[in-house]
Amino acid sequence: MAELKQDSPDEVMCSCSGTTRGMIQDMVRQGKDLDAISRYSGALTGCGGCEWDIGELVKALMAELPPEPDQAD
Ligand code: FES
Repeated sequence: MAELKQDSPDEVMCSCSGTTRGMIQDMVRQGKDLDAISRYSGALTGCGGCEWDIGELVKALMAELPPEPDQAD
């Protein structure tokens, strides 16, 4: 069995729903928050065992996003 490198986009972050790191990265880039990611992917809706890991990942990914453009112009 091939071993997945940690931080690989194919790493399954939620085994209940099969949600991968790459899916979460894409959804954060689309502007989805943790609730929306849960609704779209089914992550966090099963045993809840992934809650901390996915919460931390989403927080880290959101911190890497560029700031919103100034809407005042
Ligand atoms: S591992 Fe994500 S809800 Fe169970």
